[in-house]
Amino acid sequence: MKKVKVAVLGATGAVGEELLGLLVERNFPATEIRALASAKSAGKKLQIKGREFIIEEAKPESFAGIDIAFFCAGGSVSKAMAQEAVKRGAVVIDNTSAFRMDPEVPLVVPEVNPEDIKLHKGIIANPNCSTIIMLVALAPLERHFGLQRILVSTYQAVSGAGVKGMEELDNEVINPNYIPQVLPVASLPKHYPIAYNLIPQIDVFDAEGYTKEEWKMVKETQKMLHRPELGVTATTIRVPVKRCHSESIYVELNKDFTLDEIKEAFSNAPGLVVLDDPENQVYPMPLDLEKKDDVYVGRIRRDLANKRGLNLWVVGDQIRKGAALNAVQIGERLLLD
Ligand SMILES: NC(=O)c1ccc[n+]([C@@H]2O[C@H](COP(=O)([O-])OP(=O)(O)OC[C@H]3O[C@@H](n4cnc5c(N)ncnc54)[C@H](OP(=O)(O)O)[C@@H]3O)[C@@H](O)[C@H]2O)c1
Repeated sequence: MKKVKVAVLGATGAVGEELLGLLVERNFPATEIRALASAKSAGKKLQIKGREFIIEEAKPESFAGIDIAFFCAGGSVSKAMAQEAVKRGAVVIDNTSAFRMDPEVPLVVPEVNPEDIKLHKGIIANPNCSTIIMLVALAPLERHFGLQRILVSTYQAVSGAGVKGMEELDNEVINPNYIPQVLPVASLPKHYPIAYNLIPQIDVFDAEGYTKEEWKMVKETQKMLHRPELGVTATTIRVPVKRCHSESIYVELNKDFTLDEIKEAFSNAPGLVVLDDPENQVYPMPLDLEKKDDVYVGRIRRDLANKRGLNLWVVGDQIRKGAALNAVQIGERLLLD
């Protein structure tokens, strides 16, 4: 594998810090890792997995000589900086939603559509966390049986709202009088407690009553599966869980199936682990799966009213596979070419 110079933009954030850790842990073949954030963090030192990173303020010239730049500093920063990095010769792997629906930008989960990586023109988009986790589980079903329709309800961790979302849950648990300031959406006027609560809003609503997060699950799924006509409907809910997203997924398949065939397809799928033994109360739970790389599937049941209908319960660490790990895996694939 060739050696490269790497930058992580947003290195002090939930995703950026995880990403730095993964680069170290997976021995990413980097001769240099530049850790970038806003001016307020310049000079700050991060100790991650035995390595020290000194944060630099992100500027266009920060990307000179960089081969791969992981962007995790928010959509507006990506829009302002990505072309600057590309101009200087870097491939940008972008964690934000800035370019995901751009037809010129491939949107990739390596277990789902790795072939799209080579279509990039300098930017590759990393999908939304709930979509990544769902598609790692559904890709083998699409491959073996064909997906007819997807209905999904999510139970999303506070880490999806970044470091501030995680701090808000901790603060509310410690202090019942704490006034929420971040969830459901930091920029909106109303905030609700997440401790001992569920919030049926992730991001802003559109005129039809769906949130942006729900639309991401629809549109990004259609793009990655190359099926713009595929029926997908989503309800996304914030729950008082630290960092794993859980999803109750109902799919209708194009072919008849047995549950053994479904489990075999899952067992052979990369990045997916079957955890399904109801008799012994074995099923995926978010608390158990923090910091795990794989996505877990359980509660695998046929819809008794529809022989091609299937119910699943899927859980994955959303900072890891839902964001940082998926981005690093895209980077690893790039280096194989
Ligand atoms: N959390 C998730 O699970 C997740 C999953 C998928 C995608 N994403 C996306 O990834 C991005 C980061 O999310 P996060 O949860 O890691 O957020 P976060 O914890 O709030 O961290 C934000 C990071 O961006 C940096 N930043 C902010 N403004 C900047 C600027 N003007 N110039 C340079 N750096 C700047 C911050 O640096 P300072 O500390 O210096 O302010 C910090 O390092 C978002 O677009 C988010 O939607 C997040």
